[in-house]
Amino acid sequence: MKSVTTDKTPMRSDLPEWKQLEKNGPLANGLSLKALFAADPLRYEKFNVAIPGMVLDYSKQPLTDEIMHQLFSLAYACDVEGWRESMFSGEPINLTEGRSVLHTALRRPKSDRVVVQGTNIIPQIHDTLERMRLLSEKIRSEKKFTSIVNIGIGGSDLGPRMACSALRPFIDPDINVMFVSNLDSAHLTDALKHCDAQKTLFIVTSKTFSTQETLTNANSARSWLRKALGREDVSEHFAAVTQNVSSAQDFGVSPDLIFPIWDWVGGRYSLWSAVGLPLCIAIGYEHFTELLEGAHTMDEHFQTAPLEENMPVILALVGLWNRTFLHHPALAILPYEQRLSRFTSYIQQLDMESNGKSVDRAGNALPYQTAPIVFGEPGTNAQHAFFQLLHQGTTIVPAEVIAVIHKPDALEDHHMKLLSHVLGQTKALMDGKNGVDPHRHFEGNRPSTALFLDKLDPYHLGMLIALYEHKIFVQGVLWNVNSFDQWGVELGKQIARDILDYFHDDRNLMRLDSSSAAMIAKMRPQS
Ligand code: F6P
Repeated sequence: MKSVTTDKTPMRSDLPEWKQLEKNGPLANGLSLKALFAADPLRYEKFNVAIPGMVLDYSKQPLTDEIMHQLFSLAYACDVEGWRESMFSGEPINLTEGRSVLHTALRRPKSDRVVVQGTNIIPQIHDTLERMRLLSEKIRSEKKFTSIVNIGIGGSDLGPRMACSALRPFIDPDINVMFVSNLDSAHLTDALKHCDAQKTLFIVTSKTFSTQETLTNANSARSWLRKALGREDVSEHFAAVTQNVSSAQDFGVSPDLIFPIWDWVGGRYSLWSAVGLPLCIAIGYEHFTELLEGAHTMDEHFQTAPLEENMPVILALVGLWNRTFLHHPALAILPYEQRLSRFTSYIQQLDMESNGKSVDRAGNALPYQTAPIVFGEPGTNAQHAFFQLLHQGTTIVPAEVIAVIHKPDALEDHHMKLLSHVLGQTKALMDGKNGVDPHRHFEGNRPSTALFLDKLDPYHLGMLIALYEHKIFVQGVLWNVNSFDQWGVELGKQIARDILDYFHDDRNLMRLDSSSAAMIAKMRPQS
């Protein structure tokens, strides 16, 4: 593969494989999914990929053998295999920040080796896991703390929050895990109502330890503790997960309760690190390691399976086809599993923060569309909210439906009914229905992919998350964007800081636009 630091690859859209797909896009819009199934009884056999624990059915997508072949050719032409190797081996593929991208190392066995700048990083990962084991076992056995409040935002919140909700049956019933992220103090206030200060541990999770929301919430949590406990030193009630050890210490966290994040782990890819500490405390270390094992299994599949049988690659190519060549702007991610109700917001950050870019790695403006607008809610709730638009709206929204086949704790007939909706809805989207009355007419031909997990436990959740991480990585390679920076979030933060200053002094508002100035004048605290 070409060295990533001197990436002079031609624009993706100049590749003959890309041009071919561009030509086929409009033709494919005319394909009838129903007719494709009718013409080929083996369609499902051709367009599904199964690995132990999971099946991905992409037969209800507007694809033919020829288009799939062209998509795989594009993946080879973009050197997906080379980029994959570069990521796993720790090359600094996050070019704008000069960093390796090694969340996959976090789930490797102790005996593995991954060398970054001359140092094998696996021992430090396992040392940290050992510290997580000791702390989580202590908390679970002593019950000194029964309320665990994670304070963090974005990647320092969404992963453990989503996983705690997904793995609720595995959570120790004596432990109440809460997540506070929003700068709106209602978030913290409402959480504290459920906490006894004596028995509360706050975990301040922030890679940088400089995020305004997190520090503001951490300061207020510390004031609450000081008041409730009637003492200044409340350090035993705080742990921190950060790369910025000195700031965590300055805040008052004792060094033995500070857990590291490394610069080769991006925030939104960090659940597998000590960012998973609240989850580890809640479900126990053994289950936490099963989550890592599931992710590692997916890593091995991604690394070794030929592209044509590679689940993350296929999911990525189908997404690319819909977004870039068929021009569908959005992607609905619809877990038919209540415990995965936070999964879509987790993927929203993973996908939109990674690939919501409009320049390529070399900084050239892209002449094609990148990440879709990701949204979704769990089924069946979503059916009663926005499925009207999916079935009859003017915009075609491809869907990724996720379902769990075996649910041992389901009540009575709930689960079979739930699964009937998975199949019923995807079939309705595809088949449509001729109606004489135009209000009752369903055009059909609306694409969906279905992903079936054998069950929802730590291992399968690990597989599922890693599947999406790799999907998004592959799409980043295909679009030739840097999936691992997020400069787009900086400007708004910076302007908000300036505005805060405007609230507190008499600066001349005339320098601002009239709308901002008018609002600031309204919002300024009255003296
Ligand atoms: O604002 C975006 C972001 O940088 C995310 O990428 C990150 O996950 C989040 O903020 C939190 O950052 P930190 O962990 O440094 O507090």
